[in-house]
Amino acid sequence: MKVGVPKETAEGETRVALVPDSVSKLTAAKLEVLIETGAGVQSGYVDAAYVEKGAMVAPSAADLYAGSDVILKVRPPSPSEAEGLREGTALISFLYPTLNLDAVRAVAARKATAFAMELMPRISRAQPMDALSSQATAAGYKAVILAAESLPKFFPMLMTAAGTISPARVFVIGAGVAGLQAIATARRLGAVVEAYDVRPVVKEQIESLGAKFVQMDVQAKDAQDAGGYAKAQSEEFYRNQQAFLAKQARSADVVITTALIPGRRAPVLITAEAVQGMRPGSVIVDLAAEQQGNCELTEPGRTVVKHGVVIHAPLNLPASLAPHASQMYSRNIQSYLLQLVKDGRLNVNLADEMVKGPLVIHEGRVVHEPTLKALGPGGGTV
Ligand code: NAI
Repeated sequence: MKVGVPKETAEGETRVALVPDSVSKLTAAKLEVLIETGAGVQSGYVDAAYVEKGAMVAPSAADLYAGSDVILKVRPPSPSEAEGLREGTALISFLYPTLNLDAVRAVAARKATAFAMELMPRISRAQPMDALSSQATAAGYKAVILAAESLPKFFPMLMTAAGTISPARVFVIGAGVAGLQAIATARRLGAVVEAYDVRPVVKEQIESLGAKFVQMDVQAKDAQDAGGYAKAQSEEFYRNQQAFLAKQARSADVVITTALIPGRRAPVLITAEAVQGMRPGSVIVDLAAEQQGNCELTEPGRTVVKHGVVIHAPLNLPASLAPHASQMYSRNIQSYLLQLVKDGRLNVNLADEMVKGPLVIHEGRVVHEPTLKALGPGGGTV
């Protein structure tokens, strides 16, 4: 079976789905690896590094798609990439199927099978395949670096002959994977860190990183679902939260927001008024920008200055750490592919939740319920 790795075509995407070190793991499992020429270059991996590990190089995307049984990608395929899939083949990538219905239709029309990395169940057995976590780790780290670069202050406390410099105060909202990495990074740079999450269970994790967990008087009702994700709250709760967070933000130099609710617009937690209450020169990094942001003044994909506060709303921070973000994603996708392969062939065992969870299209049939719903009546049999 041939595993193909195309060059990513989405604008600004520098990552690659497979790094050279993963090639030998796949060839050891009797898979052949085909890489599109230049696919790894923006992540620092040249063709020769892949060849050294046993891969073959395809001179173009068309050759790659024509010669592959399984395609490994980072970003969802464009409709034309999906149309390039050979009939009956498989695709593993981030897919966000309900947002990419044209690609879903095109993959299904090729009678192909598609697995979405973001739908990997959050169970301990699936941890090595958890691409959401690996990429959120990169984003959380880089958010702090971005903030430190924009903040016209030192992060650590300095005691010098010229006097004592007080440390920067960083406030992290949302202590999931990205938030916890942001806390750890800000602590390493010497900042005083406070953090808040709607799920009180994260208190211990925040404290173990040397940050202070700040709590609202009113607790969220039923804050967490069975998968460990935050649940949406009432309008009234969000209003209370906005007032509480505005107060917290006033004393912060940096606010990093990471609050997400799966499948919904990110909750607005930092209002325009809260930004106005912050000190000029302060910095907000809104990691929820891909879901319209946690800050009311966020402009996804842009950096703006409002009321003297710099608001960063990056859309793909992991791409700015391409060698490592790719290395981590590659490990995720390699582990997953090796789970799916039996005797050198793809074995779609629907009894395994790790196979069924990410499966969006099975041999041309859409099987992921939310996608079926989004496609509308008759949409599953494209
Ligand atoms: P996420 O990216 O969906 O959300 C980020 C954070 O925002 C979460 O901690 C969430 O509670 C918080 N949030 C949502 N609404 C908020 C609000 N109104 N105010 C403040 N905070 C708010 O979360 P992520 O990082 O994907 O992690 C979700 C859960 O999955 C966590 O419990 C994490 O520990 C768990 N997890 C489990 C894994 C496993 O067992 N394999 C792997 C990774 C994560």
